[in-house]
Amino acid sequence: MPEIEIYDSPAALADAAARRLAALASEHVAASGRFSLALSGGSTPRALHERLARPPLRDAIPWAKVLVFWGDERFVPPDHPDSNERMARETLLDHVPILPENLHPMPTVGQTPAEAAEAYGRTLRALLGDPPRLDLLLLGMGPDGHTASIFPGQPEAVAPGESPAIPVFDAPKPPPTRLSLSYRTINAARNVLLLVAGADKAAAVKAALEGSPDPARVPAGGVRPAAGTLVWMLDRAAAAELRAGG
Ligand code: 6PG
Repeated sequence: MPEIEIYDSPAALADAAARRLAALASEHVAASGRFSLALSGGSTPRALHERLARPPLRDAIPWAKVLVFWGDERFVPPDHPDSNERMARETLLDHVPILPENLHPMPTVGQTPAEAAEAYGRTLRALLGDPPRLDLLLLGMGPDGHTASIFPGQPEAVAPGESPAIPVFDAPKPPPTRLSLSYRTINAARNVLLLVAGADKAAAVKAALEGSPDPARVPAGGVRPAAGTLVWMLDRAAAAELRAGG
C-alpha cells in the first residue's frame, strides 16, 4: 500500500519533498557511493527544484555523487521552452555542483522517438541494471491521471511492455510526441515520490488511490513499486475527494 501524506499548501509539500530527497541522497551515497535520481516535468517540481538549489539543502546534498535521469521528456530539442531537461537545468542543475557526465537526459535529436527510447533504455540498463533500479523516481500526475508520459488508453497503459523506456505519440497534453520510462522501470525503483497539488487533480487522486484502479484509465494507479517505497505527497486541494477527508 502506498503511503499518503497531505500538506497544507503546495509550498509545504515542496519543503517536505526537498527534505526527503536530501535525506535519501545522503543515505544512498553513504550506503552505495552514489544516488540515482529521475526528475519529472510539469509545474509542480519547480518549487522543489528551487529549494534544492539554495542553502541549506544545496550545501547538504553530495551533488558530485548524484546521477540524474528523467522520468519523461517532450520530444523537442533541449533548448526548446517545452523541454523538461531545459526546465531542470534552469531551475536546479545550473545552480548546483553536479558533474556534467552524471547528467543523463533523454535524447531528442538526430533519431526517431523509437530509436531514442531504445537508446535511453541502453543507458538505463548500463548504469542501473536490468530492470533499471533508480534510487529515487520523482513523478507528477495530470488531472486525467497520467503520470510520466503514460496517458490513459495509450499502449503502455493498456498493455505494459518490457522496454525500459518508450516512445509516446498523440499525447493529449502538448507536445504530443514524448519519451517516457515504462512501468517496468517505474516499478523497479527503490523509492517513488508522487507529487500532486491542485484541486483539478482531486478526482484523479481519488480514482488512483481508492478501490482497484485501472491503469488503462488512471495510469498513476499503475505505479506500484515491486520492492520499493511509494509516497503520494498531496496538498489539501488534491486530497479533497479522498474518503478519509484529506
Ligand atoms: C510532463 C510530465 C507530466 C507531469 C504531470 C503533472 O513532462 O508533462 O512529467 O507527467 O508530471 O503532467 O504536471 P504539473 O505538475 O504541471 O501539474
